[in-house]
Amino acid sequence: MSAARRVLALALFSQGVLGGLYPGLSTANHTCSLAKPILSCSDGAQPGLVDTCCTETYGGLILQTQFWNTYTGLESKGQLLPKDSWTIHGLWPDFCNGSYTQYCDLRRQYDPLPSPNTTTGKPDGTPVKPWKGAPISDYIKRFRKYDLLDFMNKYWTGLNQPSWILWAHEFSKHATCFSTFDTECYGPAYARHEEVTDFFETVVAYYQDLPTWRWLAEGGIAPSNRTAYSVADIQGVLRARFGKTPYVGCGGPRFNETKAGEGSADNGFTVLAEMWYYYHARGRVQRVDGVPTDATGSTTSCAKAPGAVWYYERTPRSVRH
Ligand SMILES: *[C@@H]1O[C@H](CO)[C@@H](O)[C@H](O)[C@H]1NC(C)=O
Ligand SMILES: *[C@@H]1O[C@H](CO)[C@@H](O)[C@H](O)[C@H]1NC(C)=O
Ligand SMILES: *[C@@H]1O[C@H](CO)[C@@H](O)[C@H](O)[C@H]1NC(C)=O
Ligand SMILES: *[C@@H]1O[C@H](CO)[C@@H](O)[C@H](O)[C@H]1NC(C)=O
Ligand SMILES: *[C@@H]1O[C@H](CO)[C@@H](O)[C@H](O)[C@H]1NC(C)=O
Repeated sequence: MSAARRVLALALFSQGVLGGLYPGLSTANHTCSLAKPILSCSDGAQPGLVDTCCTETYGGLILQTQFWNTYTGLESKGQLLPKDSWTIHGLWPDFCNGSYTQYCDLRRQYDPLPSPNTTTGKPDGTPVKPWKGAPISDYIKRFRKYDLLDFMNKYWTGLNQPSWILWAHEFSKHATCFSTFDTECYGPAYARHEEVTDFFETVVAYYQDLPTWRWLAEGGIAPSNRTAYSVADIQGVLRARFGKTPYVGCGGPRFNETKAGEGSADNGFTVLAEMWYYYHARGRVQRVDGVPTDATGSTTSCAKAPGAVWYYERTPRSVRH
């Protein structure tokens, strides 16, 4: 867990879990297109002042998050990484102050491996069984969104698990905490699970505006198993393209525990792994009208020492050619 985002674990137990985010919300037509889009986290973006279906009022600080992995663990099943591209992690609704909550509607819990374990999540302690139903990809097929499914299979890749489990996890843990993806927002003609494909389409659209691999490569930062980079350079290149500072996440060994960092007080991590781009959203999140904003709190978990961060090349047989 990164120090950049503080979880409000208590919220999971105290509210929201038995209903939507705003109990009693009407399913009468929410005509968002008739109103001027309001920016999330701005002064007026409050429940009671705006239609929560038309302005994001719950998780108004929106993060499009991406992974850099060098393998998938399921290569033998044909699950490969896209060439010259980072992959999708998700689209997360943080509170405007940078903390967040998760699994906001356990009626829409399709995640077979909930983390944290939502099986103890109901306020009265009643376990909620892990999901044993159809894979979430079946909903996409039911709405005949085959192009979407194809794109997700290529660019939204699971690590050591089938990709659809990552998708189900992202939906149940994060999408249920957006006010604009509440089922009531879809009006009287709501078709069950339509917000699931709507969410996935929104995530993909945000991701398509953020070509991390190309931005870095054009800034002289290409994957290499010989030369390590400085996190300040990585962040500088991306800030020049995105307009604001993204959060750069690293894993692997801590710098002070590597040979290169022996004796150093820098205990940041040394293997580039994640990128989080922060936005506020104008109008409903589905409009994909994001206004870039700086990462809140700590902007990296990587070692800050010059040349301390490895952006590893992928294992060739893990890449789709
Ligand atoms: C929603 O809009 C449709 C189409 O305009 C209309 O037929 C229906 O009566 C409306 N329903 C409600 C609950 O307002
Ligand atoms: C951040 O905002 C949330 C939602 O408004 C609130 O519940 C929480 O207490 C706030 N946290 C801090 C540290 O201000
Ligand atoms: C979650 O908790 C339940 C009941 O306590 C347990 O049976 C299940 O194995 C746990 N799941 C995970 C993923 O840890
Ligand atoms: C490296 O930093 C970590 C975290 O601060 C610390 O626990 C560990 O003892 C340090 N290792 C060395 C070799 O100094
Ligand atoms: C580069 O190094 C990573 C991490 O050790 C490894 O997984 C990958 O296979 C290597 N890639 C190449 C092309 O050697």
